[in-house]
Amino acid sequence: MFRKSSSQLAAYINPRVVQAQYAVRGLIPMRADELKARLDAGETLPFKELVYCNIGNPQALQQQPLTFNRQVMSLVDSPTLLENDAIVAQFPADVVARAKEYLKNINGMTGAYTDSIGYKWAREAIAQFIARRDGTESPDSRNICLTDGASSGVRLIMQLLIEGAKDGVLIPIPQYPLYTAQIALLGGASAMYYLDEAKRWDLHVEDLLKCNASLAATGATPRLLVVINPGNPTGQVLTKETMEGVVRYCHDNDVMLLADEVYQENIYGDRPFESFRKVVLGMPAPYNNTPCISLHSTSKGIIGECGRRGGYFEMLNVPKEQKEQLLKLCSINLCSNVNGQVMTALMCTPPAEGGESYARFRDEYDGIFASLKGRAEALAKELNGIEGITCNAVDGAMYAFPQIRLPAKYVARNEDLNKSAGTKIAADARWALELLEETGIVVVPGSGFLQQEGTFHFRTTILPPAEQMQSMTSSIRAFQTKINKNFAN
Ligand SMILES: Cc1ncc(COP(=O)(O)O)c(C=O)c1O
Repeated sequence: MFRKSSSQLAAYINPRVVQAQYAVRGLIPMRADELKARLDAGETLPFKELVYCNIGNPQALQQQPLTFNRQVMSLVDSPTLLENDAIVAQFPADVVARAKEYLKNINGMTGAYTDSIGYKWAREAIAQFIARRDGTESPDSRNICLTDGASSGVRLIMQLLIEGAKDGVLIPIPQYPLYTAQIALLGGASAMYYLDEAKRWDLHVEDLLKCNASLAATGATPRLLVVINPGNPTGQVLTKETMEGVVRYCHDNDVMLLADEVYQENIYGDRPFESFRKVVLGMPAPYNNTPCISLHSTSKGIIGECGRRGGYFEMLNVPKEQKEQLLKLCSINLCSNVNGQVMTALMCTPPAEGGESYARFRDEYDGIFASLKGRAEALAKELNGIEGITCNAVDGAMYAFPQIRLPAKYVARNEDLNKSAGTKIAADARWALELLEETGIVVVPGSGFLQQEGTFHFRTTILPPAEQMQSMTSSIRAFQTKINKNFAN
């Protein structure tokens, strides 16, 4: 009997895994990690530190967690602390009361599996939050499913609807690459609708109909429409009229609406956030029966607890058969992580006004919000002041997606470099790579999110602290000015 050595084993990989791409953690951040290791080893580079603007990870860029949430979480995780009066005396009374309430709901321990769709009491807290937010009746908590961040909800919903190339998903371009990656993993068909940069990155409903035609040409049927509102990477907030058009499209074409609303608290401009759920319910029959699944997460907003992996999806008007299968998919995963579930319940139930924690919570919450809004405005203003860069206002979310006008000679040089090195780096990826090598700033090239042919962009978060943001925009200015000069036509 011959045994193969590990070098003889065929390293089979599912080609769909190879095909899936995720630019937010791709080429540029990988190079950034190499440069960081060199800096840490004492090497001298043109910059002293890396500024990670590639991922919406607020606490990695010094955003502080909300104290109330962490205090409750620590008591829930270590209930024996509540047996020590001296320790209890150090926590505000509403923190202790909340921790005891949660512990009572979970029989005093957090280490057990929960219901497949999450703790019932957490789902009820979410249902009440949704009702307060939308001014509607509470949804049935059985239509809410807790997830490990919004990402795992996206995966489950796509698994439900995509069998293969005959099932189409409409996605916005520029898009958050989770979507194309998931479609690639399932072998589905994607149809891209373009957001209009000249109109505050608005969505035009006519473009959704064009997607039907492109899917039909490949024999695919549209199954799911993804709308990200507020948008990533584009930061736009949709108007109610546009949202109603989207709902009509979904209804008339028998397409499930997936409303990615993870940035619902990150609103800085003049357009308020409306949930798709509220818009659907407010429409006349038959449109108020349109199936819509909405996503939310503890990763963004003001709470910024990405690493807790909390989130949920809520199903509105989803047919019973689909709901049952989706719940079965949840049960295959046993349950989402418990810390994420507790954090999601906390996000949905902030401390009550008049309680001991309220003043501190308000102060922390308002401080983070004001700072994000200030940075969103400052970043767009600064970028617009750079020759060769234009940037729409950041109405929401955590990113700016400026357009870079790259001189033709720079684009031609990139092609030459690709030819000689046998690479296929897009011109804006080259720009982002060179920016990184010169300044230590880590952004994601627009090509990682897809964009209108012939345009170039980059995405940066608005998350660096204000002082760092100032030096970051100065460095981008100096870098772009040099490109404008060195590659002038
Ligand atoms: C639009 C959008 N949806 C979903 C997610 C996934 O977030 P999480 O899985 O951390 O909740 C992100 C993360 O950046 C995002 O930007």
